[in-house]
Amino acid sequence: MTLRDDGRNAVEIPLDGKVAKRFGAYASFTTPDDPIRVDFFGDPPNREFNRLLDGYADKQTQALDLGCGAGFTLCRIADRVQSIVGVDLQSDLLQAAEARIRSRGIKNARVVHGDTTHDETVTKLEDGRFSLAFSQRGPFLTRALASKLTPDAVFVVELAQDYLGLKQIFGRTPFVPQSTGDPDWAVGAQAGAGFVPVSAKSYWYHEYFRNADHLAAYLRRGACLENWWMEPCPYEEPRDRAALELWCRYNQDESGIRLVVHRKVYVFRRQAIDYYPATLSWADQ
Ligand SMILES: C[S@@+](CC[C@H](N)C(=O)[O-])C[C@H]1O[C@@H](n2cnc3c(N)ncnc32)[C@H](O)[C@@H]1O
Repeated sequence: MTLRDDGRNAVEIPLDGKVAKRFGAYASFTTPDDPIRVDFFGDPPNREFNRLLDGYADKQTQALDLGCGAGFTLCRIADRVQSIVGVDLQSDLLQAAEARIRSRGIKNARVVHGDTTHDETVTKLEDGRFSLAFSQRGPFLTRALASKLTPDAVFVVELAQDYLGLKQIFGRTPFVPQSTGDPDWAVGAQAGAGFVPVSAKSYWYHEYFRNADHLAAYLRRGACLENWWMEPCPYEEPRDRAALELWCRYNQDESGIRLVVHRKVYVFRRQAIDYYPATLSWADQ
């Protein structure tokens, strides 16, 4: 299967139709509201994430996919590793992942339904088993999850950041530095689970929309304007139209209406640490 640089996948099996409609780009599906053009200006983060995964995976690897969604990446790397387990809290997405595993005839993959921050999910995973864990815009490691990893395990992460300035104009986030905008946030969070950084890269690229209505349709899908600390608050007319028009006026160029996407790709490795200067309590679960 050819890797698309924007990480989006076409509907492949019958179950995909339903989940693609509901989750769209959040679960790495193409949708009718996708941008008309994406300019990476160089290396796309998805290519880097997959390059790293391929580099760390080998036939001895037991892999763990945190927030596997509809299972595209899980299925892609299954034949490079000895075995792979995907975990996700959305049962609809997990059913699509299971169906994809079956439809591709993959025998060394399984999925676990549940929230990675809950004990009842974590106890379904074998202690000290996984040498490669990864999360593509899914959850981070916790201390409980780390106990399921080998002492030399590596954790590869692609982190989606907010579109630059978008939530501010739509009143979904304050005009002050945010936790996830802090480049050291992820490093401190993973230190709490016994993982130290190997590398961190930031990517900025452009997505273009035809006009205000096209962008409104994209934002109506929700995830772009959501924050973990508030109720889902997707684009809604007439509440958000004025902000949309302001955005379009500021961000129109010859290619269309622009969103600036920010992604990060990290590698962490496990290391016993008695003391680390940045530890967040949530990772101590
Ligand atoms: C942005 S989607 C990405 C899905 C997939 N990794 C991909 O790249 O298409 C994030 C996924 O993580 C899952 N997720 C988020 N928090 C989770 C948690 N605490 N436990 C399990 N799954 C979680 C969501 O249900 C969702 O499927």
